[in-house]
This record gives sequence, structure tokens and C-alpha cells, in this order.
Amino acid sequence: MNTTFTRRKPKDWWKESIAYQIYPRSFMDSNHDGIGDLNGITEKLDYLQDLGIDLIWICPMYRSPNDDNGYDISDYQQIMAEFGTMADFDRLLDEVHTRGMHLVIDLVINHTSDEHPWFLESRASRTNPKRDWYIWREGKNGAEPNNWEGIFKGSAWQYDTATAQYYLHLFTPRQPDLNWENRDMRAALYRMMRWWLDKGVDGFRIDAICHMKKDPLLSDMPNPKGQRYVPSFDRHLNYDGLLEYVDDMCRQVFDHYNIVTIGEMNGIGADQGEAWVGENHNRLNMIFQFEHVRLWQHEQCLPPSVNTLKHIFTHWQDALEGKGWNALYVENHDVSRVVTRWGACREFWRESATAIAAMYFLMKGTPFIYQGQEIGMTNSHFATIEDFDDVSAKNQYADLLSKGVDKTQILQLLNHTARDHNRTPMQWDNSQNAGFSDAPPWLRVNKNYPKINVADQQQDPLSVLNFYKALIRLRKQEKTLVQGRYQLVLKHHRQLYAYRRDGENDRILIICNLSGEYASWQDDTVMLVGQTLLLSNYSASGDDTGLRPWEARVYRMRT
Ligand code: GLC
Ligand code: CA
Repeated sequence: MNTTFTRRKPKDWWKESIAYQIYPRSFMDSNHDGIGDLNGITEKLDYLQDLGIDLIWICPMYRSPNDDNGYDISDYQQIMAEFGTMADFDRLLDEVHTRGMHLVIDLVINHTSDEHPWFLESRASRTNPKRDWYIWREGKNGAEPNNWEGIFKGSAWQYDTATAQYYLHLFTPRQPDLNWENRDMRAALYRMMRWWLDKGVDGFRIDAICHMKKDPLLSDMPNPKGQRYVPSFDRHLNYDGLLEYVDDMCRQVFDHYNIVTIGEMNGIGADQGEAWVGENHNRLNMIFQFEHVRLWQHEQCLPPSVNTLKHIFTHWQDALEGKGWNALYVENHDVSRVVTRWGACREFWRESATAIAAMYFLMKGTPFIYQGQEIGMTNSHFATIEDFDDVSAKNQYADLLSKGVDKTQILQLLNHTARDHNRTPMQWDNSQNAGFSDAPPWLRVNKNYPKINVADQQQDPLSVLNFYKALIRLRKQEKTLVQGRYQLVLKHHRQLYAYRRDGENDRILIICNLSGEYASWQDDTVMLVGQTLLLSNYSASGDDTGLRPWEARVYRMRT
């Protein structure tokens, strides 16, 4: 293992990084079975290096029966057979390090698969030593122990006839929740984490960390089924005492390694962010907060209001300034494609994909790109429920159907929001199956691949891909874009998102028109005349007093 490389990392190395998220199942198939795999990722490392990536996060690649595509782990220290072997993983890690990049893996520790040996033991008898590693309860009056609903629909409890008790599963019934109260269970997880860190992985993205602590009384939610959801009433989302678990894990494991940790943190606002990533607390390095993605992942198909978006991002930027670090992202494997949901796919596909990119990428924090986002991949069309793969889409379909909602209407909804949109195979070129595989892929390729693919965009200087490359180059070149303070300007403008990054004797302005109409402004605090243009997503130069539809520009401002 290339440990010299990892040992030499400077402190906070991840602040300068550009991160890229890989969904292994859909990235690249190297052995002709229609399923992406680890060797496929290794094959494409040169592509990622050329793009300018230095931090790669891969979604779960562990042994799993794939009820939730790998987020249901049956062995933390084995590789899923479809993805390859541990030797393939070691080679991938080595090849990543050889290129001066880092590899972060997904840590799924809120739950395991129901096929994990720990759970098999736990369910075997009420007296098994591992019984308490999961959350078992008696039924209440012949029904579930409480009124909690699963995140993927249905009750969060599953009755197990063998021992006549219920176990808790916040996700699918095949993903039983681990009991973090149990110290032996925690110690076993910590051993597993150290094992990966000793192998040389550079950190973890921590799945569903916000759910690890449950109300010890497991009391009913005050606002169950169908009523307005109030996060602060939640009995397992950021529940009091959660940070004690996090601290324990940090002291026992993370503190002993020079790694990066990023928690998946649903349900908190900017004011709570500091408790998680404030550097003085010495907890996590970053979190993926959800507030902004919620704006375009809601069930209606409306684009988000630019002002609401500014409010959310600005709040996070200000709240963490000088205290902690933001993870910047607009897509991941749990949402649908941003250019479809929020951009203007028909008239301004290229412009909107690049304007959205410039808008989020140059804020203060570590930018993450989700595979395919860098070429402006769009949502697919799913004609029937059979075309979907994701357990969450299927459960949502069944749930709405049972409530009497019309099939066409449900399909329409899923065609906006389903996670499958971001899981269709990566579009490498215009050959069969988009160059992802020469066998029929596990999930159908988006049929626009002859128009949207890596190979074509590599040739086209104006492509979305080349714009991402330019953004990355710029961020690497300009210290101000890493360290400079974020300052929102044109605060109330309804089309423009504009902000400055203020460094020492240096100011950079990012100005993006997030609408399909020309946008001008009167405010003379932002004057473009005579400033130095560093980057733009239009080829022909524009004017100094307005921006064309979805135009984005970056300037060095005179100080
Ligand atoms: C996280 C993952 C998601 C998964 C869930 C359960 O939210 O990102 O893909 O389904 O946790 O593990
Ligand atoms: Ca394969």
C-alpha cells in the first residue's frame, strides 16, 4: 500500500480538493456483465485526473444483497462480487494514490443488511449476545411498538415470528437499524473503520449519520402519517445526544488519522452547522446539508426561487465563515438531475448546466461533482414502474397506489423526482450503451447519449465538460477562490446570483443569470466596465450592464 503518500498529506488537504462522487454500479463496466465495477473505475482514473479531480468518493462497494443498491451491507470487509475483489479495491486505491488523488469510501453505520451475520445472530433468539446490537421491541396491543414511518414508506417496524418481537428499520425492512447505545456494537464498528483506514483510505462519507440516535423511549411521533412534518418533533432525526456518539467515534477512530470526514446531515439549518463542523469542536470536517436540494426536489416541477436559494447558501457561508468548512454540491445519487429540475433543458441546456456550475462551485468550501453532472446529464424517461430499479421509487408507487392515486399521476411524479435518474449509466461516448458496457446495462441508458457524452464534449471547447475543467483550473489557480471570504451582492435581484470572494488585496466576482431572460441591474456597487474577465460560459462577449439567459461570468475586480 502506498502509505508514504497518505502520511505526507498536509493538514486540511481536503480544503483545496475538488471532489467527484462515483456510483460504482453505473460508472464503468470492465467485464461485460452490464454492471459497473471497481476495475471500471480504475480504467477511468486518467479521465478524472485530466478533469482535475483530487478527491474521489465512491458509494458502497461492500458485500450486499442489494436491496438498496449496496446501502444494505452484509459484510463490511468484503467487496460485492459484482464489483470485483479486495485485490481490485487495493489496486484502485493504489492507482488513485499514484496519481496524487485521494479515495473516500461510504460508511454505512446506521444500519446493516438483514443478511449481516450480526443481524442473523441478533434475530436468532432473545438471549443471543448480539440481540441488543439492533433495536428489538414488543408489539403494543398487537401492533407496532410505535407510530414511526419508514423513510422509504410503510411502518418502520418489522415483526419477526421467530422471536415474536419487532425490529426497527428506518429504511427498508432489509436494513435493520444498529443500536448505537450498545458499546460492543460500537467497538465492532470502530474496528472495521480502523481496518479500512489502516489500508490507506483517505476518509469516509458517513451515511445517514443524522439518524443514529433514537429517542430512548421510542415514543410516538407527534405528527405522524400525512400531517405536516416538523423536523424538530422528529424522534430519530438529529435527536438529542447524537453528538455524543459522533464524539465517541471521533476520539476512538477519526482523530488518529489524517483523513477527511463528511457526514450526510439531513434536517439541520445553518445555525446548527457549526456544532458539526466547527473546527474547535474537532468533529467532522464537512457535512452534506439538504436545505438547497430540497428546493428543486419537491414534488411540483417548479424551479427554485433564486432569492430563496441565495438566502440558504448565504446563510451557510456566513454561519461557517472562519469556523468550519462547507461541502458544496448540487447533485448526488439520491436526487434527480439538476439541469432538468432547475435548468432549462430545452432552450438553454448548455448555458444552464454551466451557469449552475459556476454559481455553486466557486463558493467557499470543497466542491463535489456527481458523475455525469460534468457533462450536463439529464433526467431519463421511465414509461412504466417496471423501468425503475430503486426500492424507494417502487415503495412510493405502491404507497400512492394504495391511497387511490392514479397510475399516470404517480409515474409523472416519479419522472420528476426518482433517484433512478441519477443512476443511469455514465455516458462515455456514442457507441452502444453509451460506452458504459457492451452488455445490456442493469439500468437503461438515457437515450440522449448520442448527444450528451464525454467523448464528444472532450472535442468541443464550449462543452459543459470543458467549462467544468476551466472552473477547476481557475479554483486551483486562485487562492482567493479557496480562502477568500464570501460576500453576497445584488442581494434581492430575482434573476441574478452574484457574490464576491474577498481575499487579501484581491476580489473575485461571480455573477450568474439563473433565468432564461436577459438580466440587468441598476445597483452601482457592481460595475463590470474595465474589470478583468476570468471566465464566461458564452463565447461571444456580452455587454457590461446585463447578462444573457443563463450567462455566467467570473471577474477579477479592481481593489
Ligand atoms: C443515504 C444514502 C441513500 C440510502 C440511505 C439508506 O441517504 O445516500 O442512498 O438509500 O442512506 O442507507
Ligand atoms: Ca461489471
